[in-house]
Amino acid sequence: MSAPWWKTAVVYQIYPRSFLDTDGDGVGDLEGIRRRLDHLVWLGVDAVWLSPVFRSPMKDHGYDVADYCDVDPLFGTLADLDRLIADAHARGLKVLFDWVPNHTSDQHPWFVESRRSRTSPKRDWYYWRDPAPDGGPPNDWKAAFPAGIDAWTLDAATGQYYLHQFLPEQPDLNWDNPDVVRAMHDVLRFWLDRSVDGFRIDVAHGIGKDPALPNEKPEWRGIPHVAVNEQPSTHVQLRAIRRLTDGYPGDRVLVGEIFQLFTHAHDRYFGENDELHLAFDLPASVATPWEAPAWRDRIARVAARLDPIHAWPTWVLSNHDTPRHRSRFGSEAKARAAAVLLLTLRGTPFLYAGEELGLEDAEIPPDRRVDPGHRDGCRAPIPWDSSSTHGWPTPDPWLPWPPQAEARNAERLLADDTSILHLYRRLLSTRRSSSALRTGALTLHDDTPDGVVAYDRHDQQERWTILINFTSQLVAYAASGTITIASDAEGERQRYSGVIGPDQALLLRR
Ligand code: GLC
Repeated sequence: MSAPWWKTAVVYQIYPRSFLDTDGDGVGDLEGIRRRLDHLVWLGVDAVWLSPVFRSPMKDHGYDVADYCDVDPLFGTLADLDRLIADAHARGLKVLFDWVPNHTSDQHPWFVESRRSRTSPKRDWYYWRDPAPDGGPPNDWKAAFPAGIDAWTLDAATGQYYLHQFLPEQPDLNWDNPDVVRAMHDVLRFWLDRSVDGFRIDVAHGIGKDPALPNEKPEWRGIPHVAVNEQPSTHVQLRAIRRLTDGYPGDRVLVGEIFQLFTHAHDRYFGENDELHLAFDLPASVATPWEAPAWRDRIARVAARLDPIHAWPTWVLSNHDTPRHRSRFGSEAKARAAAVLLLTLRGTPFLYAGEELGLEDAEIPPDRRVDPGHRDGCRAPIPWDSSSTHGWPTPDPWLPWPPQAEARNAERLLADDTSILHLYRRLLSTRRSSSALRTGALTLHDDTPDGVVAYDRHDQQERWTILINFTSQLVAYAASGTITIASDAEGERQRYSGVIGPDQALLLRR
C-alpha cells in the first residue's frame, strides 16, 4: 500500500495577512495567495496550510473566530476561497485550513448568546463559574497572553466569570457539552464538503479540561499546567474528529498543534492510529538551539518515542508564533544548513512562508506593535521584488518589512541560482524524487566529532548520508559518496573529500 500523501508531502504555512496584498489595504488577501501559487509549484512544496481567514474581530489576528464558515472581508469572500482551493488543486497542491476549536471570539454569536443570561440555552457552551468566596476568579489559572493576566474575566451583567486560556476576547468552548461537539463537527463537514484536504488544529491539546478546574501551578508564562497536559476527554474528542474526517475520501489529514513544555507528550496524540494523523511537537520544534547535541537528542528522541506503526514525525523550524529560525540561529549559513536538516529528516516537514528567502524577523518599533503576544517580528510581510513596494500595492503594509528587503526578496533570489531560495528548491526536488528521503529509515551515526550530526536515510533502493556541521570551523569526518547538495552551493556533484566546511551541511549520494 502506498503511503498517504501527507506522509511524503512538504507543507508550506502561509500567514495570509503577510503573504501578498492585492486590494491596497496593506493586509494580504486570498487573491494574493492565488496569484503566487505558481511560486509554490516552482519551489516544489505539496500542500499549503493557511492560518485562519475566517470572520474575526482580529484581536488575535484571526485566531479569534466569529464565524467559522465565512471568510473575513479583509481577506476576500467565500467565492475567493473556493477559487483558491480549486486553483491550488488544479496545480496538484493540497490545502489545509486552520481550525480553532478551543475558543471562539467573544463576538461569535454562540458567546454573545451564552453571555446574555445565566439561563441562556448556550450558557453551558462556555465555562461560566461563580466568583471565589473573596470575589476573585474561580481558580488560579493564568492566560497565555498578555503576560500575567488571569484566565478568567468577570462578566458584570451576570456576575459570573468565564474562562479564556488566551485573550479575554477568546472565551474557551466547553467540549463536554454535546451541542458544542455537534456544532463544531458541522464546521468540519462544511469545509470537508468544500474539498479542503485537512486541518491544522489550533491548541489541540487544550480542548478538554479537568472538570474540577483545580488550582494548579503555572507551568510556563502562566499557562496553567492542567490546560497544557492531556485530559482523557481531549482524546475522546480527537477520536470523534478523526472518525468524521476519515469518513471522507482522499486521505484528509489532521495535524494538531500540541504545545507541551515539560512532558513532550505529543506522541500520545496519535492514539492507536485513531486520533491525530500528525502532531507538532511544540515548543521543542521551534526552541531547539542550533547545536549538535540538542539536535542529536531530538532526532533520537523522536525516533524512540514515536510508535513506528501509529505515528509519523513532523519537523518545523519556524511559524507565526516564534522568532524565525534565521534570526534565532544567527546567520544565513546556519539557516541554509538548517534547510538541509529540515528537508532530509524522517517525517513531514513544515515550512513557514519566507524561510525559503532566508528572511529574518522585522524590527518592530514600539508604536507599530500590534500583537498582544509580541509575535509581530516573524509576521512581517513577504517582499516579492526589489521595488519600493516589494510587489505589494502600497509601500507601507500592516507591519514593517523584514531587514534588507531590497536584496532579500523573491525576485532577486530567483535570479541567483546560488541563493537560499534555489537551495530549498533543489532540496525539495531531490526529496520528491527519492523514496529513501521521503519514507526510508533514518540511522544516526555514532561517534561523530563534536559539533557534527550525521545520519543516513535509506531503503532498499537508495542510501544517502547527511552531514551537518553546527560549528563555524572545518571538521574532518570520514564518509563516502557524491555531494548532491551542499548548503553553501559549493562543490556539488563532487566526491566528498572528508571535510565538512564551516556551518556547512551536505547531502551525499552513496
Ligand atoms: C495557537 C496559535 C496562536 C494563537 C493561539 C490562540 O497557539 O498558533 O497564533 O494566538 O493558538 O489561538
